[in-house]
Amino acid sequence: MPTTAPRVFSGIQPDAPAHIGNYLGAIRNWAREQDRYNNIFCIVDLHSLTLPIDPATLREQRLVLAATLLASGIDPHKSALFLQSDIPAHSELAWILECFTPMGWLERMTQFKERSARLGNERVGTGLFTYPALMAADILLYDTNVVPVGEDQRQHIEYTRDLAKRINQRFGEIFVIPEALIKEAGARIMGLDDPEAKMSKSIAASSPGHAVMIIDSPDDIRRKFARAQTDAEPAVRFPAGPGVTNLLEIYRTVRELGWEQVKEEFAGKPYSELKRGVAEAVIEALRPIQERYREIRQDDAGLRRTLKESAERLAPIANATLTRVQQAVGLR
Ligand code: TYM
Repeated sequence: MPTTAPRVFSGIQPDAPAHIGNYLGAIRNWAREQDRYNNIFCIVDLHSLTLPIDPATLREQRLVLAATLLASGIDPHKSALFLQSDIPAHSELAWILECFTPMGWLERMTQFKERSARLGNERVGTGLFTYPALMAADILLYDTNVVPVGEDQRQHIEYTRDLAKRINQRFGEIFVIPEALIKEAGARIMGLDDPEAKMSKSIAASSPGHAVMIIDSPDDIRRKFARAQTDAEPAVRFPAGPGVTNLLEIYRTVRELGWEQVKEEFAGKPYSELKRGVAEAVIEALRPIQERYREIRQDDAGLRRTLKESAERLAPIANATLTRVQQAVGLR
């Protein structure tokens, strides 16, 4: 990777195993475009403390996710892959960014509004509210140019840009202004049990039929698609309802087909056939990833070493940015 290539940074939470929404909306794109960029991928374990999580689960899911990312093609020779909590500069910059963030900006974040509505204000921690400032710290610490994500993160990146511009205006050119990179296909995969809700790891934890995980067995994948919500029509017709549209979207993204091809393939077919077709396409795409995943999990010590080595290489970059900010605001 040439050092002059634009810097990519992206992150993913280790709250639960990654699902096919994470894969199609983010991970697959990260892996494919590694040669174009200077890449940093972060397992954002501090973010996973924003919703209740058991310590053993958090510890285990960090390794599950690291292995899933490597198995999906993230190559540690081309990309840094590290744990957010291994570099304290993330927390330190987040605090400073919170102090420069108007409350109203965070109150408008849809992810916060949805999650706090689901759990109730007395039950969610303040970290859920200030979450975007930690995410902005992740991105801004590394002079990131491009942030490849799914559609649900667009608003957080807009906030990061607004905040960086605001701080630059006040103190001079401190931060590089990052851009979101969101692909048209696969950017918003919906839940299988509820096609009105985005497929999400936190919902999947209590409703297993909600999401297909990257490491799900073929039988589980078939069963989950077989039960996916459709509508009362007997067969695929267009315009299709949200459940059927979501299945078609998964299929066309996995197979990399245009909408017209997919419509031709499934028009008039019974839903059972569509569900079988999507399940088999997903199983086939995940098979090599699952094989590599099992191999990688044979050596958890090696996995931990990979994460530590990346953190050691990145810490000086993060610390240099933090020092620049501390100097600007009057802390040094
Ligand atoms: P997280 O862990 O929820 O999701 C990781 C990535 O997967 C994408 N994604 C989806 N794409 C399509 N359809 C879906 N249903 C779907 N669900 C999730 C997300 O858009 C994301 O790209 N806040 C972030 C993690 C983060 C981060 C960062 C990202 C922390 N710091 C800095 C970028 C840069 C999150 O919770 O992602």
